[in-house]
Amino acid sequence: MVVLRKTSLLVFFLFLLLLLESTFEQQTSSLDEKSALLLLRSSLGLRSRDWPVKGNPCLNWNGIKCDQNGRVTKINISGFRRTRIGNQNPEFSVGSLVNLTRLASFNASRFYLPGPIPALFGSSLLTLEVLDLSSCSITGTIPESLTRLSHLKVLDLSKNAINGDIPLSLTSLQNLSILDLSSNSVFGSIPANIGALSKLQRLNLSRNTLTSSIPPSLGDLSVLIDLDLSFNGMSGSVPSDLKGLRNLQTLVIAGNRLSGSLPPDLFSLLSKLQIIDFRGSGFIGALPSRLWSLPELKFLDISGNHFSDMLPNTTVSFDSTVSMLNISGNMFYGNLTLLLTRFQVVDLSENYFEGKVPDFVPTRASLSNNCLQGPEKQRKLSDCTLFYSKKGLTFNNFGQHEEKKSSKTSWLSHTKIVILAAVGGSILLMLILIVLPITVSFCVRRRNRSSTSNHPRGRHNGVGPLPPDETLPSRGGVSINFGSLGSSFTYQQLLNATKEFSDSNLIKKGQSGDLFKGVLENGVQIVVKRISLESTKNNEAYLTELDFFSRFAHPRIIPFVGKSLESATHKFLVYKYMLNRDLPSSLFYKSNSLVDNGLRSLDWITRLKIALGVAEGLAYLHHDCSPSVVHRYEKPFLLLFFYFQDTISSSLILSLPMFTKGYSSK
Ligand SMILES: *[C@@H]1O[C@H](CO)[C@@H](O)[C@H](O)[C@H]1NC(C)=O
Ligand SMILES: *[C@@H]1O[C@H](CO)[C@@H](O)[C@H](O)[C@H]1NC(C)=O
Ligand SMILES: *[C@@H]1O[C@H](CO)[C@@H](O)[C@H](O)[C@H]1NC(C)=O
Ligand SMILES: *[C@@H]1O[C@H](CO)[C@@H](O)[C@H](O)[C@H]1NC(C)=O
Ligand SMILES: *[C@@H]1O[C@H](CO)[C@@H](O)[C@H](O)[C@H]1NC(C)=O
Ligand SMILES: *[C@@H]1O[C@H](CO)[C@@H](O)[C@H](O)[C@H]1NC(C)=O
Ligand SMILES: *[C@@H]1O[C@H](CO)[C@@H](O)[C@H](O)[C@H]1NC(C)=O
Ligand SMILES: *[C@@H]1O[C@H](CO)[C@@H](O)[C@H](O)[C@H]1NC(C)=O
Repeated sequence: MVVLRKTSLLVFFLFLLLLLESTFEQQTSSLDEKSALLLLRSSLGLRSRDWPVKGNPCLNWNGIKCDQNGRVTKINISGFRRTRIGNQNPEFSVGSLVNLTRLASFNASRFYLPGPIPALFGSSLLTLEVLDLSSCSITGTIPESLTRLSHLKVLDLSKNAINGDIPLSLTSLQNLSILDLSSNSVFGSIPANIGALSKLQRLNLSRNTLTSSIPPSLGDLSVLIDLDLSFNGMSGSVPSDLKGLRNLQTLVIAGNRLSGSLPPDLFSLLSKLQIIDFRGSGFIGALPSRLWSLPELKFLDISGNHFSDMLPNTTVSFDSTVSMLNISGNMFYGNLTLLLTRFQVVDLSENYFEGKVPDFVPTRASLSNNCLQGPEKQRKLSDCTLFYSKKGLTFNNFGQHEEKKSSKTSWLSHTKIVILAAVGGSILLMLILIVLPITVSFCVRRRNRSSTSNHPRGRHNGVGPLPPDETLPSRGGVSINFGSLGSSFTYQQLLNATKEFSDSNLIKKGQSGDLFKGVLENGVQIVVKRISLESTKNNEAYLTELDFFSRFAHPRIIPFVGKSLESATHKFLVYKYMLNRDLPSSLFYKSNSLVDNGLRSLDWITRLKIALGVAEGLAYLHHDCSPSVVHRYEKPFLLLFFYFQDTISSSLILSLPMFTKGYSSK
């Protein structure tokens, strides 16, 4: 009896134990699944702290989620660390996952899995919906087998070392909503039928080596929210089909080799756009006007393209407290407009904006390297003038009508120079006052001059008034025949003289024309001014200059040698070449002991002599000749002086746009 009782008690306990055990097993993973997980733990070298042997995977293992039947559905080993032993021979070995037949999500992001993606992803694991293998140091190609994971919604392979093409069959993953292959070495092209991924919400292919063009079918992705194709080698233009991306909020295609202009209707339907990044993409032309009225726009970076456009003068009613505009490094021009009130941070640097900076422009705006009036570090006057004249517009000359000031602004970059200029300027002024009364009136006219090269100027030394015998006798106010003024050269002669206007002969790009050095057949050194009638707004300027030279000559004014007027599009004026450099470069030349090609910074004696020579020239123009030359010029005062270093410059070349308004009788 006793034995029986004892036995039945034992059986009872055993039964109880079994019962307990089985209910316990019901709540936890199946034995198969637990052993599969333990195998995984050892093949990946996971720490028992994360996955303790005695624990219940569904209840107290980190990163494991099970369904109601105790079957593992999610594994998240993201951010786990390997044991020391696991670190010794790390591999992408996850074979035991095949026994987790309900697995829907595998996230190993930032876990070290060196090696190619195993084929079991696709041959098994067909229940996977989420596969995140980002930052896992994966190598090899994207296996075709992956494209059989037909339930996949999220595929993130970003930040690995994956190479090869994007398999065309990837587009069979019809439920895919996130596809991120960014920061790998994927090459080839984007599958042409990418538009078949009709549920795609995020597509990130950035930072690969994809080539070819943007496939038009991308525009079929009507639920796409984020598109990032940046920093690849893609070429071609932006297909206007992209206007079909009606739900797009982020559009990043920066850093490609795209070309052409943006389709005018690109943004017509993209009313949800918040972030647009097109920087450094090679685009040209104007911006679609709709861009500026996108209601949600927070970030617009189109820097480093070749866009050339004016900003519309519009405001927007909607609130945009955090917003950034970067259009630096383009060719935007015109005035700053009310549009800028929309943005908090603006970078407008390296464009051609002109005019004043209105109060509404954010205080932290970057405005350098424009043609603006007021801010520091603007472009050179000549850059601005050239740019605007190419557009058929007149540059406002930094809003200044005072020629001297504006022509100096571009040179004055160092305080030293400012001081020098101030001192030089006052000396000049004093000298004009001193020289004036004693200057003999030598208003001269040319007579029977075929060339001035034999004139005795340039030999005159010293700084005083010139001896009257060196001036030319004047002639009455007879109308001028330019044909007899100086020599007439053929175009071919000037081509030969200037090595076909080669860059090495270019002295200076001027406002009224470019100056080239040249040598005539007889060895006479000349300066040729090439005037393009197409780019010069005032076509008559060269006539004014010819008129001037036909009336006046003075030892302080560059001798006129001749002209070539045969071409309909270009006119050429020829002057005698003066040794050394033009005055501005010499005055502001800074001695550099390392690269000093023989030229010295000017000493004070020479500077004084130059000032005197200049004063003489000015005094002549203003007071001595009849009719006298009066400064009423709209264009900057661009006297281009040449000097002799040993003797005082006896000549100054007048770059004569200043004479467009020329001289008037007094
Ligand atoms: C994955 O695991 C890491 C580390 O345990 C945790 O920080 C993270 O929140 C988990 N992520 C998800 C999506 O569960
Ligand atoms: C999967 O489970 C079966 C049965 O328990 C076992 O025989 C097999 O070895 C397991 N496979 C892997 C790869 O762990
Ligand atoms: C994977 O885990 C990381 C880290 O917790 C998380 O940021 C990421 O969103 C997860 N991936 C997916 C697809 O949920
Ligand atoms: C795609 O998702 C839908 C809805 O979530 C689902 O009904 C369908 O079965 C899924 N298709 C595949 C192939 O997983
Ligand atoms: C695309 O991925 C890169 C990193 O690989 C990331 O920097 C970028 O922000 C992602 N783009 C979007 C739009 O999320
Ligand atoms: C604007 O873009 C340029 C070139 O891409 C960059 O150097 C500059 O820092 C950007 N400006 C701002 C304010 O981010
Ligand atoms: C900028 O404004 C000035 C004065 O308002 C005007 O003369 C000039 O034409 C404007 N520039 C352009 C390119 O419209
Ligand atoms: C823009 O329009 C405002 C009035 O709406 C006007 O005062 C301003 O001068 C205009 N600015 C430019 C650059 O045309």
